[in-house]
Amino acid sequence: MNLSDIKISKMNIDDLNIIKNNLLTDFDNFWTFDILKNELESKNSLYFVAKLNDEIIGFASIKIILDECELMNIVTKKSYRKNGIGNLLLNVIINKAKELKLTKINLEVSNTNVTAINLYKKAGFKEVGLRNKYYNNENSAILMTLYIHN
Ligand SMILES: CC(C)(COP(=O)(O)OP(=O)(O)OC[C@H]1O[C@@H](n2cnc3c(N)ncnc32)[C@H](O)[C@@H]1OP(=O)(O)O)[C@@H](O)C(=O)NCCC(=O)NCCS
Repeated sequence: MNLSDIKISKMNIDDLNIIKNNLLTDFDNFWTFDILKNELESKNSLYFVAKLNDEIIGFASIKIILDECELMNIVTKKSYRKNGIGNLLLNVIINKAKELKLTKINLEVSNTNVTAINLYKKAGFKEVGLRNKYYNNENSAILMTLYIHN
């Protein structure tokens, strides 16, 4: 697979309908279709989808709050992981935040999600806080921020 063959576009409801029944199996995304649909339709949200020959292989989104945004989702289809697609999607989000002159990208990630934490750190995100035992009263949430200097 060549990363340059991947096309990134704005995600729309047709894209979401295509992966509706495979969200848990192929993407192990923890958000339900209904939540994703609501978010996709929210005017403060921006969703991007990665496609390889029209196959949806990942998506990522931000929610804009004043001059900051929150990374809401970043997911690569299981069978395509460890090919740089997560990094590609994250860079699309970062470039969009720069284009919109946002000052920060905030996110929260489970302390057990080492792959995601590494991805964020490599992109320059810094740990700014910890919510102890945040998920199911067990795993902690690490709060991370990328400061954008416009
Ligand atoms: C987190 C997630 C999005 C990363 O997606 P990905 O497409 O696998 O990301 P990348 O390929 O860019 O990077 C992942 C790893 O693959 C490695 N990698 C990238 N290209 C590679 C290649 N060609 N060969 C070997 N390894 C490679 C990266 O170095 C990185 O390794 P590391 O974890 O040791 O640092 C993915 O694991 C996922 O969808 N997880 C479930 C959802 C989730 O937890 N999202 C984050 C919280 S919302």
